Amino acid sequence: MAVSTSTGLLIMETSKNKVFVLFGGTGDLAYRKLFPALYNLNVRGCLPDDYQIIGIGRRDYTAEEYIEIIRTWVQQFSRLEYTEEGFDALARKIRYLQMDMKDVMAYERLGEFYEELGISDNIIYYYAVSPELFRYITKGLTVIHKRNEDNKVIVEKPFGKNLEDAGKLNRELEDFFRCENIYRIDHYLGKEMLMNIMTIRFHNTIFKGIWNKDFIDNIQINAFETVGVGSRAGYYDQSGATKDMVQNHLLQILTIIAMEEPTDNTADAVHKAQERVLDSFRPVQSGEILNYMVKGRYRGYTEEENVAPDSKTETYAALKFFVENERWTGVPFYIRTGKKMGKRESEVRIQFKGDNPDEANVLLIRIQPAEGIVLKLFIKKPGTTQEIVKVSMDYWQSDVLENIMNTPEAYERLIQACRVSEKGLFTEWEQIQKSWSFVNKMVALYAEEGGDVHEYEPGSYGPLEANRILAPGSRWIVEDQT
Ligand code: BG6
Repeated sequence: MAVSTSTGLLIMETSKNKVFVLFGGTGDLAYRKLFPALYNLNVRGCLPDDYQIIGIGRRDYTAEEYIEIIRTWVQQFSRLEYTEEGFDALARKIRYLQMDMKDVMAYERLGEFYEELGISDNIIYYYAVSPELFRYITKGLTVIHKRNEDNKVIVEKPFGKNLEDAGKLNRELEDFFRCENIYRIDHYLGKEMLMNIMTIRFHNTIFKGIWNKDFIDNIQINAFETVGVGSRAGYYDQSGATKDMVQNHLLQILTIIAMEEPTDNTADAVHKAQERVLDSFRPVQSGEILNYMVKGRYRGYTEEENVAPDSKTETYAALKFFVENERWTGVPFYIRTGKKMGKRESEVRIQFKGDNPDEANVLLIRIQPAEGIVLKLFIKKPGTTQEIVKVSMDYWQSDVLENIMNTPEAYERLIQACRVSEKGLFTEWEQIQKSWSFVNKMVALYAEEGGDVHEYEPGSYGPLEANRILAPGSRWIVEDQT
């Protein structure tokens, strides 16, 4: 089987993995993302005929009922066209087991279920449940696996509630699974354009020489969503935008944008290069945090279901980082993320130096919903006039490639990457640890130094107070004005 690695190389590898066990088999993630991804993988011929998928949940379904529910979600969310034949081929692989994941005895029943199905090892365990269940599951699995050499685990985020909790969770996982068999998900790493950033940076000589403080004024990374907290407030209200999006997804993007070229194409070298960026963040000193961070909350958030009426949780965060090294000293990296914003858009905006922002080149790397890159250049307006105008050189992935639907979605790519032990698309513990400790410190300083949670209108671009973190002369790059 040909598999694309994180670095875009093709490798030939067959996976020994024959079983996928999904804790959280009746959850939102399973229905919206994981089963559609498994459907696509199966249609593409990536799962062997004798592959077995065991959904585990608390609800009392028969396998038939479970499959019919999955069918409706696959119809709605699968990237590839839904066909009865295609779904039936997946359905033949699906089993369901009802169990209470906190009950150690229930794992004996799971072990018996394996015996009935002829399963022993080479299993991928997927923890798509609330993090407080992780330790019960890991403990429960010790009942089944006396030796645990070949089984892998994919752990969904959030990876812990804070640094201490994440450390505990990590120790528990490492006590049971071999380190190389632990796959910590950050689904942004499976996104097409994130994987493309390295190619754009390191395979275009024109960028290599100018990707530094001498040519770049500032870098802005945005992840805006139009949706609100929805039905996830139980988790989200304990977390907030900074921990939910910045600590993981957005720092992944920042470190890939800022890192030095990895010494080779291995996952390890890429992770090391990213970690060095995290190590180089300029620490925020006491008294400074309000110049580095702004929190916001959309109007109406505290009336959402399961949100505490006196909640101080932010649904928006704007942060500034400096990477203190030879390449970047003095260049601000801004991150903004929010829910219920004016539009859904994840983008990296690189502003080059110019006399002022209006006269500067800009490179946009569009992550979603559209995928592509745009370079803003100056030309003389056609005709006899000497007027100079800004124009766009655009590359839209969806226009150029035959069909964007041919690009696997993040979860499809990540499940397959785990099957063939390709770790480049997953986060390593050191990265999580470093990003947690930096973000924790900022969050704590913000609280100590009286940072407010500023209200913003749903459908806007967040609170105006976010402007206070902009360096003199910088402004938010708004696409229409570039
Ligand atoms: C998740 C967050 O990790 O990412 C959610 O927990 C957020 O709050 C989601 O909505 C965004 O993912 P995507 O792929 O839609 O950008």
